Amino acid sequence: MYTPIPSWSNLLMSALALIPLASAIPCSSCSTHLATSNSTILPYLNPQLCIQDRLDDLLSRMTLEEKAGQLFIKQIPAGINGTIDNTTFVLDGNRNLTTAPLITEILLSHFNVNNARSAKQMAEWHNAIQELALQTRLKIPVTIASDPRHAFADTVGSSIASGQFSKFPESLGIAALRDPVLAELYATIIREEYLAVGIRSALQPQIDVVTEPRMARSGQTFGEDANLTASMVVALIKGFQGTELGLKSVTTVTKHFPGAGPARNGNDSHFATGKDNTYFGDFLDYHLIPFKAAIAAGGRQIMPSYARPIGTKYPEVAFGFNKPVITGLLREKLGFDGIVVSDWGLITDQAILGVIEPARAWGLENTTELERAKLVLDAGVDQFGGEICTELLIELVSSGQIPESRLDISVRKLLEEKFLLGLFDNRFVDPEAADTVVGNAYFARIGNETQRRAYTLLTNQNDILPLRPTDGTKFYARGFNATYLSARNLTVVDSPEKADFCFLRLSTPWEARGSPFRQRYHEGRLDFNTSEIAAHSALFNSCPTIVDVLLDRPAVIPEVAAEAAALFGHYGASADAFLDVVFNKDGWEPEGKLPFDMPRSMGAVEAQVADVPFDTVDPLFGFGHGLSYGRTALCG
Ligand SMILES: *[C@@H]1O[C@H](CO)[C@@H](O)[C@H](O)[C@H]1NC(C)=O
Ligand SMILES: *[C@@H]1O[C@H](CO)[C@@H](O)[C@H](O)[C@H]1NC(C)=O
Ligand SMILES: *[C@@H]1O[C@H](CO)[C@@H](O)[C@H](O)[C@H]1NC(C)=O
Ligand SMILES: *[C@@H]1O[C@H](CO)[C@@H](O)[C@H](O)[C@H]1NC(C)=O
Ligand SMILES: *[C@@H]1O[C@H](CO)[C@@H](O)[C@H](O)[C@H]1NC(C)=O
Ligand SMILES: *[C@@H]1O[C@H](CO)[C@@H](O)[C@H](O)[C@H]1NC(C)=O
Ligand SMILES: *[C@@H]1O[C@H](CO)[C@@H](O)[C@H](O)[C@H]1NC(C)=O
Ligand SMILES: *[C@@H]1O[C@H](CO)[C@@H](O)[C@H](O)[C@H]1NC(C)=O
Ligand SMILES: *[C@@H]1O[C@H](CO)[C@@H](O)[C@H](O)[C@H]1NC(C)=O
Ligand SMILES: *[C@@H]1O[C@H](CO)[C@@H](O)[C@H](O)[C@H]1NC(C)=O
Ligand SMILES: *[C@@H]1O[C@H](CO)[C@@H](O)[C@H](O)[C@H]1NC(C)=O
Repeated sequence: MYTPIPSWSNLLMSALALIPLASAIPCSSCSTHLATSNSTILPYLNPQLCIQDRLDDLLSRMTLEEKAGQLFIKQIPAGINGTIDNTTFVLDGNRNLTTAPLITEILLSHFNVNNARSAKQMAEWHNAIQELALQTRLKIPVTIASDPRHAFADTVGSSIASGQFSKFPESLGIAALRDPVLAELYATIIREEYLAVGIRSALQPQIDVVTEPRMARSGQTFGEDANLTASMVVALIKGFQGTELGLKSVTTVTKHFPGAGPARNGNDSHFATGKDNTYFGDFLDYHLIPFKAAIAAGGRQIMPSYARPIGTKYPEVAFGFNKPVITGLLREKLGFDGIVVSDWGLITDQAILGVIEPARAWGLENTTELERAKLVLDAGVDQFGGEICTELLIELVSSGQIPESRLDISVRKLLEEKFLLGLFDNRFVDPEAADTVVGNAYFARIGNETQRRAYTLLTNQNDILPLRPTDGTKFYARGFNATYLSARNLTVVDSPEKADFCFLRLSTPWEARGSPFRQRYHEGRLDFNTSEIAAHSALFNSCPTIVDVLLDRPAVIPEVAAEAAALFGHYGASADAFLDVVFNKDGWEPEGKLPFDMPRSMGAVEAQVADVPFDTVDPLFGFGHGLSYGRTALCG
């Protein structure tokens, strides 16, 4: 199906066969050694030395403050016109700081960029950040990470609008295509675009298995099946990292260990109302299947879930504080020796969208910030997400509660990542090149094509699809931009009664609850209320209606399935993608298969056990459902 533009396909091929990094050579085969190295360059800055020698040298030079700075990663915005932002203040205790002092005073060197600028401006901003880091005593390069930004969702704290980056469906749509080769290409394209602007760490893949259909962060998962999720995570890690972490890699943060799917009532674990994962079906091991695959595939970093386990042998405290889970299960039993980075905001209460949100120290709410920091380190976590409280670590070491050697273990891993990525030796990117790489015609085209292919056809009464309109065919649209459809040469009328066909675009229902931040997370009921159902029915009774529902969770829509002329599920798609599939333009047709069961009723949802997959009674559409256009339809 793909006929890649040759120059880009060559680039992809060379990128996939990652060029080995000179400084990644093991000490055993390294020709230059510390003792004989060029004395005019500090050993850790000398690319001819092997990484272990450079790490030893750098660690021996670091102050406690410099070590503490490595153990934090904080969200910051890219400033306007490629500058360092000096208008957004990061508040922590009595400190209220912008980006620059975070680097020069708090000595942080890991950040996740939480807004979108043009590719050129992001690259320029990244370079400005690296220039600033060069002004610090040790000149340690900054590592920039990002939440997913290659789809349609834009949710504070978990995804970002794509801007100039190419636009795919959410990862659920990648799962709907069941194609590891495509999944690897998808991650490869994201990697190329990230590399171009200086992003070197992807806060994904999110491999929580959606065994509770109300789970608020289902959209960025791979659905309900642990084995499908496992095959996807392996492909993504290969696409992001390559066979080994090197100069052209983006490191991955697989999340949220040991699986955030079994959320009680689906409530989101950013918030106290969602702090519990329940395991009453005794299915914790099922949720570990994709994590085992990620570890075997060499995934570099893992993020624990915010939630705490109920109904297991483990303590009922949040996973980031949970030593039997992080050290006992993840490190000792599953053999993970990479970096564990906590989810954002375990230690301090912080204002988000103008409201103070409590620290996610679930089950440990009454502990002090100092106690929390110690518990997280003792659990075996290497880095604190979303915090800047270096003074707590300094106090823990100064007061003898934590040995400095404990910090060294984590600092060494975090710095090794920077050496492997080549950041010490080549930290800048080319802003002009960034503009030509990000969203280039080939990458954008694969994104656009994937939006079309992931379309999942749930019903097609009387084989009404694909539509074959003639010049006089009239359309009425709700949930789409009618002006846009007119510009696409459709005759759009202003009432369903005048139309030959109607289009209705819907989102899976959710309930907006609580604080402004919480309202961004889609929790609660999955069905439409009586007035919405009545409005839909009126439309269905007026004209044959093609429904296009965004499945960021499995919608409970038996009445839509029964009454619509045809029903599509999608996972993030443009109006153009919808039209091309509806009209079978250029041969586009739905290829997606459901990545989860779609329950028949809210009663069936509530009767499910949160940690158990595929236990919804008599699903409306089962996992794997997805119709094709009939052969005759395509020939007609
Ligand atoms: C040592 O490094 C300096 C600075 O990069 C360089 O100018 C010099 O040529 C190097 N000397 C040797 C012997 O490699
Ligand atoms: C950003 O650049 C644009 C175009 O050069 C300019 O008009 C604008 O004033 C700049 N804004 C800032 C804050 O520098
Ligand atoms: C913020 O940055 C802008 C653009 O670089 C600069 O003009 C302004 O003086 C800076 N403000 C502060 C308070 O540093
Ligand atoms: C942080 O400092 C800025 C600039 O001084 C100020 O406008 C802002 O109100 C401060 N925020 C808090 C929460 O103190
Ligand atoms: C998942 O994979 C495991 C290991 O390969 C296999 O034993 C199991 O039967 C698979 N489960 C399903 C539902 O395919
Ligand atoms: C989930 O959130 C809803 C709405 O805030 C609340 O009524 C319910 O009690 C919460 N569930 C749990 C387990 O806290
Ligand atoms: C925290 O302290 C309050 C008041 O002493 C108590 O009611 C609550 O149960 C405590 N919570 C935990 C998790 O220990
Ligand atoms: C991708 O789709 C968008 C929206 O339909 C369109 O504007 C853009 O031109 C497409 N890009 C490519 C390269 O096909
Ligand atoms: C609807 O589409 C038209 C034509 O493309 C565009 O100008 C307008 O901004 C769109 N309206 C909205 C609300 O997106
Ligand atoms: C709409 O029709 C006009 C005239 O036939 C044609 O030039 C134009 O390319 C068409 N636009 C689209 C989006 O198909
Ligand atoms: C149904 O939901 C809509 C919003 O989606 C809301 O405006 C309306 O008040 C609700 N109606 C009932 C009867 O709950």
